[in-house]
Amino acid sequence: MQIGDENVHRVRALMDEVFGDENFVSQISTKTSGGSTGEFLSNVIDTILWYSKKRDRLKYRTLNKTKGVGEEGADKYTRVRMPDLSIRNVSADEKAGLTKVPQEARVYRQDNMTSQSVGRDKGDGAASWFPVRLDGVETKPNIRVRWKTNELGMDRLLRCRRIELTSNSLAYVRFLDDFAAFPLNNSWDDIGGVQSRADPKVYVVQTPTTVIQRCILMTTDPGDLVLDPTCGSGTTAYVAEQWGRRWITIDTSRVAVALARSRLMGSRYSYYLLADSKEGQAKEGEITRTPPKSAATHGSVRQGFVYDRVPHITLKSIANNTEIDVIWDRLQPAVDAARDALNTTLSGHPTPFKVETGGRAGAKIDFRATGEVKLPSGEPAPAGGLMEWEIPREAPSGWPAAAQSALKTFWAARIARQREIDASIAAKAEFEYLYDKPFADSGKTRVASCIPLRPNWSKSPSLARRGCPDRRGRARPSWRCTALYIWRAQTPARPCC
Ligand SMILES: C[S@@+](CC[C@H](N)C(=O)[O-])C[C@H]1O[C@@H](n2cnc3c(N)ncnc32)[C@H](O)[C@@H]1O
Repeated sequence: MQIGDENVHRVRALMDEVFGDENFVSQISTKTSGGSTGEFLSNVIDTILWYSKKRDRLKYRTLNKTKGVGEEGADKYTRVRMPDLSIRNVSADEKAGLTKVPQEARVYRQDNMTSQSVGRDKGDGAASWFPVRLDGVETKPNIRVRWKTNELGMDRLLRCRRIELTSNSLAYVRFLDDFAAFPLNNSWDDIGGVQSRADPKVYVVQTPTTVIQRCILMTTDPGDLVLDPTCGSGTTAYVAEQWGRRWITIDTSRVAVALARSRLMGSRYSYYLLADSKEGQAKEGEITRTPPKSAATHGSVRQGFVYDRVPHITLKSIANNTEIDVIWDRLQPAVDAARDALNTTLSGHPTPFKVETGGRAGAKIDFRATGEVKLPSGEPAPAGGLMEWEIPREAPSGWPAAAQSALKTFWAARIARQREIDASIAAKAEFEYLYDKPFADSGKTRVASCIPLRPNWSKSPSLARRGCPDRRGRARPSWRCTALYIWRAQTPARPCC
């Protein structure tokens, strides 16, 4: 039910009575095309009240909005991991969209690594409360929280370099492309009015198509039946038709019905690839990089469309990815050997090296020193050599040629390990459908044909059929009372009736 703010409280109370307040689902705010210029604060929102018949049996398809660098939902993604594994901040130009982040660079944010855990065990000995050693620093969660994973999961996150040190704790490295989308909430202030060229206003009281589209896509699948008993210019039927839903729509006004009919019949609709078709199976195979299914197809719209999708990598999916251990065991020896070789070539080099990160950050390493030192984490480190995280991307001036070459070998091994681990994480990622992004068959168009019915239709279907307009729109029915249209959709272009 869409309603303005003068009456929303009354309608909500009424709907609580009709549906039961336990069946209330959401109160959605949409922006009106113009603010009412009252004496006080201007009112710029309309409200949609969403009730279900039975809340626990409600069909719901999450709609996701995609996000990119500098866009809504991505404001906290301020760092970039470059293809060579160096890290920098996102530039102002990149944020403003003036320049693109380099290909293969990955924008990320530092996210929380701990969760509040009311009633769960914390402190020494608890499953997700333990010291973590990263880059020579040991970190424990504070006593009110726990890590978001157990020790095994944490080890995998460390191996992927998905954990970073912050000033007083650890942060989870969440890449923008882990899930470049965010679920729609109940504030739809991103929808403009109906005055745009794509959504022209044809009726005095007309809802923007995007509002109806979201309602339909959230709550129905292709082939489901949508009813709008007060159709106005027919926006609901028009959107339902476009998205392969069957529809019935009704109005008491001749003007409204005439408008709705011409809008519906005069439009061309996209033909979306059906999951239940050979073309759909081929597309599905192409997206999932799997051989296409060979099951018999029947062209049923009820099996849905082939949708675009976004990967959804979660901390949990990484923590549970056992393949990371296999890759680590296979590739880490080369990284260790390359580090040892680098330290050997640097041994005795007279210029000390200032460490930038980790437990020895700020300290200078004298390559002439021998023996071991203890890092703040308690782990041993060579007094005159570098740990993995201390190795610079570029060789400081004066490093011998052998060290420069060993440095290249080290980074090649380090990048190879990262690439394989990242590929494994991506391959095991789940994904979310973008229900508003089905793939269209550009070679096909659809038109809608409608069966106009009069109230006595049930008694005399033939009468209703006689009233159906012909190709030129002649033989109009006499719209004396409620008119009702029945859908036929997802049929390739053909003339009405
Ligand atoms: C606000 S408009 C509908 C807008 C449309 N649903 C939309 O979202 O764009 C209300 C429509 O309800 C119709 N109407 C009013 N009373 C009705 C009734 N009892 N039965 C069917 N239609 C009715 C009016 O003729 C008018 O076209």
